[in-house]
Amino acid sequence: MGIALKGVGFTYLPGTPIARDVLSSIDLHLHAGEILCLMGRTGSGKSTLLNVMSGLLGATCGEISLDGENINDRAGTRALRNAAGVLLQSSEMQLFAESVEKDVAFGPRNLGQSGEELKQVVRDSLAAVGLDPEVYSSRSPFTLSEGEMRRVALAGVLAMRPRYLLMDEPTSGLDLPGRRLLYAILEGLRENGVGVLMVTHDWEEVELLANRVAVLSQGHILLEGEKEVVATATCELASAGLRPPALVAVLFELRRMGLDLPIRLSSPVETAAIIAAALEGAVR
Ligand SMILES: Nc1ncnc2c1ncn2[C@@H]1O[C@H](COP(=O)(O)OP(=O)(O)O)[C@@H](O)[C@H]1O
Ligand SMILES: [Mg+2]
Repeated sequence: MGIALKGVGFTYLPGTPIARDVLSSIDLHLHAGEILCLMGRTGSGKSTLLNVMSGLLGATCGEISLDGENINDRAGTRALRNAAGVLLQSSEMQLFAESVEKDVAFGPRNLGQSGEELKQVVRDSLAAVGLDPEVYSSRSPFTLSEGEMRRVALAGVLAMRPRYLLMDEPTSGLDLPGRRLLYAILEGLRENGVGVLMVTHDWEEVELLANRVAVLSQGHILLEGEKEVVATATCELASAGLRPPALVAVLFELRRMGLDLPIRLSSPVETAAIIAAALEGAVR
């Protein structure tokens, strides 16, 4: 199960003098029930990849499959779009309706839901993102805070019951409570078997949430695998224009200074314990 890309390439404005190859030879598999973090410097092609993976942009070459079925016609593309919910970068810009309720109802209504069933989906989706339907349903989305607007946008995506969720920098600009809430939502979705792809620049987020990490560099997947492996591959990260996690850099520096310790991607508390244990060993 999953969305699988094989040898996928994408060119903006192909066949014109300003054609631009943005993705090439992408092999990437988003599995059901995992959180895959996508990293890469600005302009590396992350947003384009998300749009290709969700069927919003058609791949220029290569193959895409959804749960084992090849996507090679209109019906397939529609199936991919229905299965993959997308939360765009600055998703608060996705809002458009006069009330929160109407905004969240838009997607499921297009899928043919109506009446009490539709109302219930809207209520459930708002509750799932921590917004009380009684309080928020009738409000204009444009009177909300940025964090609340983003949650409404997410509720609108969840209302479509996507099996895969592709999110473009969903936590940028959010404060800590807003981030924590989103993390809890994502963990809940993963438990329910949803496959989540999340573009992020934040290693703390990776450490907390990711099952796997992929790093894009100039339209290629430069690194892909366990977060432990990717987070400690400092040379490859540097060539993608990315810094390793600060705590990993500290461990490398201590090792360079002669301390015998393992290099791991861990929380601050666990990293402190690694250093303390190494210091104890050095004293003995
Ligand atoms: N609509 C477009 N037409 C032409 N080039 C584009 C378009 N959108 C993005 N690009 C170019 O594609 C490259 C990758 O962009 P993008 O996918 O937005 O990267 P990222 O999300 O990693 O910052 C950039 O060089 C960008 O300028
Ligand atoms: Mg982007």
